[in-house]
Amino acid sequence: MKTIQEIEKIRNEKRTELDLRINTQANTREKHILVCRGTGCTSSKSPKIIETFRKIIEEKNLQNVRVIQTGCFGLCAKGPIVIIRPEETFYAHVKPEDCEEIIQSHICEGKKVERLLCKNIDGKLVHQLNKLDFYKKQKRIALKNCGLIDPENIDEYIAFDGYKAIQQVLTEMKPNDVIDMITKSGLRGRGGAGFPTGKKWSFAQKEQEDQKYIVCNADEGDPGAFMDRSILEGDPHCVLEAMAIAGFAIGANQGYIYVRAEYPIAVQRLKIAINQAREYGLLGDNILGTGFQFDIDIRLGAGAFVCGEETALLESIEGRRGQPRVKPPYPASQGLFGKPTVINNVETLANITKIILNGADWYASIGTENSKGTKVFALGGNVNNVGLVEVPMGTTLREIVYDIGGGIPNGRNFKAAQTGGPSGGCIPAEHLDTPIDYESLAQIGSMMGSGGLIVMDDTKCMVNLAKFYLEFTVAESCRKMYAMQNWNQKNARNFRKIV
Ligand SMILES: Cc1cc2nc3c(=O)[nH]c(=O)nc-3n(C[C@H](O)[C@H](O)[C@H](O)COP(=O)(O)O)c2cc1C
Repeated sequence: MKTIQEIEKIRNEKRTELDLRINTQANTREKHILVCRGTGCTSSKSPKIIETFRKIIEEKNLQNVRVIQTGCFGLCAKGPIVIIRPEETFYAHVKPEDCEEIIQSHICEGKKVERLLCKNIDGKLVHQLNKLDFYKKQKRIALKNCGLIDPENIDEYIAFDGYKAIQQVLTEMKPNDVIDMITKSGLRGRGGAGFPTGKKWSFAQKEQEDQKYIVCNADEGDPGAFMDRSILEGDPHCVLEAMAIAGFAIGANQGYIYVRAEYPIAVQRLKIAINQAREYGLLGDNILGTGFQFDIDIRLGAGAFVCGEETALLESIEGRRGQPRVKPPYPASQGLFGKPTVINNVETLANITKIILNGADWYASIGTENSKGTKVFALGGNVNNVGLVEVPMGTTLREIVYDIGGGIPNGRNFKAAQTGGPSGGCIPAEHLDTPIDYESLAQIGSMMGSGGLIVMDDTKCMVNLAKFYLEFTVAESCRKMYAMQNWNQKNARNFRKIV
């Protein structure tokens, strides 16, 4: 158990040590070799890359070089990815056999390995991560620490303002102040429906009950979506901290993370993070010596799409078959075990600490009139830069597909982009310049959903796509609700145009 002073000491010391992670001009002889250990890069041998780097560094007795595992850097199409800091060199498609050359040439002789650098759309070699087209229009808030810190090291999280927001909340704010701040920020739920988060918290706070709960929805069932998984793999502590803040705001002392068992890396990192937070007294009784009590447990889902629906999820946690409940009553008044419960999506929670630390006005200054902040998209399908993208609300689909995504492979034309998961819709080329937010997507017959964005070129058959989603929904639905309700007339018109 650590005191506030001890946590601050770790923050200051570790922040100085890790300055080279965010300061390309850092005055140091140290090098940090960051290797992506998200699911994508892990499946293409990044653990072997880490092992090989460490072996070579030991053999050469290089005292100033450290190898660190991180979460996802975003540009999954170029994986496995290695970044060397402080100079921020971005190496793509690295194989274990490349490690020797990277160490000898880059680290020992100061010469970058050009064959592993990326090129921008203009064909020029890119020497620094932030000069890559892929990152230029992005703004990382929810993904701030992903690819920057070792997710299994709580001290690294603390170094980059980790557990500072909960400290501020517990020592300087009242529950109502927290709720007002989140309400004023304009944050809306990223799980699909876009419900205002502050309002949801205020409903639960008003309930007069001794026992309340916070539930994190990490079920992520939409085909093609992997935003939540990446946040949990890359920055699990930011979700734990946000849940504790939500607990303080509504008067809950227990949280559950409902995460699908098919996400073994995310589950493992969450377990490590929860244990570390408990050890430091950042979860459990008397957090930071303030008397506030909050703990978190994990519940594994079996990968049923319907269990992502919040009331089916509650049924599943309670040990029953995942079937949606009739609403009302809403979970804020009668949720888990019949008690007031706030259910928030992973990405929603990943925004909370940043709002507390930077203020509601800062957050509300990003995005559009009714959709504030950023949105993380899992960009997939027929697009060059498949990966994880975080952009301010209001960014157009064209910017995401062409400027960030690098356009359509093999010189093909864009046909449509599917957003919003199985209940979403397909956006044809004529709407490429629509600024993306909750309202504009609904207006053109699609929806934001949780953030899956699947691009299709002109060889793709829209009838097949419709068939896939209908079959998916038939198989995965509880059959109590009409999950394709959003395939409304506008969407049908889009379909007729693009088929
Ligand atoms: C069929 C169905 C599946 C859903 N799946 C998910 C999911 O996988 N993850 C998620 O966060 N929300 C999902 N939702 C939305 C949740 O019911 C709920 O609105 C959300 O977790 C609330 O969190 P938020 O306010 O932070 O968005 C789903 C909804 C439906 C109807």
